[in-house]
Amino acid sequence: MKREEEVIIKRHPASFPPKILDVIDLLLEQFDNALLWVPSRLLDPFAGIGGVADLSRDGETYGVEIEPEWAEQAMARGVITHIGDSRHLPWPNGFMGAICTSPTYGNRLADKYYPNMSDSKHWKRRSYRIYLGRPLTPGNSGAMHVGDDYRNLHRSVWAECVRVLAPGGLFLLNIKDHSRNGVLQGVPDWHVKTLEGLGLVLLERKEVPLRGDQNTATMRKLGVAVVDYELVIVFQKPSLDASCDASDESDDLLF
Ligand SMILES: C[S@@+](CC[C@H](N)C(=O)[O-])C[C@H]1O[C@@H](n2cnc3c(N)ncnc32)[C@H](O)[C@@H]1O
Repeated sequence: MKREEEVIIKRHPASFPPKILDVIDLLLEQFDNALLWVPSRLLDPFAGIGGVADLSRDGETYGVEIEPEWAEQAMARGVITHIGDSRHLPWPNGFMGAICTSPTYGNRLADKYYPNMSDSKHWKRRSYRIYLGRPLTPGNSGAMHVGDDYRNLHRSVWAECVRVLAPGGLFLLNIKDHSRNGVLQGVPDWHVKTLEGLGLVLLERKEVPLRGDQNTATMRKLGVAVVDYELVIVFQKPSLDASCDASDESDDLLF
């Protein structure tokens, strides 16, 4: 593993912001009784530059990232990172105690357009392609707008995640909707339905407000649907012994 100072820093357009990590920390604390019964290993299957390393929990943190330049930065932050495609996870069933991740959102960050960067008016544009500085590796959902390819990829990754998650383990999903041609795309609802279809149970859905910008205010005035919050959604994989569930209140009966 390279030392932190040896890694070439390549910008990432969608790394976990501190505000989201704070909410994830709170939720992990809130549901920590579930984590007593599972391995202390946490996985981010869309690890980026390893924002999960900044969570305040104890225990080993694993990641998968398809782009080597970003994976190297995650490794330098202490995330045990596999460079590869999360549709195939290299761990046995039930190896992870928790999964915490933010997949790509299928929005404008997936644009393939690569501007002439010597023209300063393009410097503010943000996309996976622009920040990486080269075309994305095939299989990177960062090149996919919402559609069949996006859904198929995530369905496969989520199935692998559920396989490597221990019974009773937690799955925390950070996601956001967006509108296209004024119409909301229903991205979070699709992920929730898919994860529930794979057997996970929804425990909590938290809205985290985003700072509104001028553009958002103008769009709202024009009657365009805007989303000014991110979601952090907590699921649990049912345990083999239902008494270990985070949502189980049977302890109260003892007193
Ligand atoms: C929203 S970003 C996550 C950023 C991360 N939370 C962080 O703190 O840096 C999604 C990441 O998933 C990666 N990715 C997309 N498709 C992937 C795949 N099939 N397998 C592994 N990584 C993938 C992208 O390259 C991108 O870095």
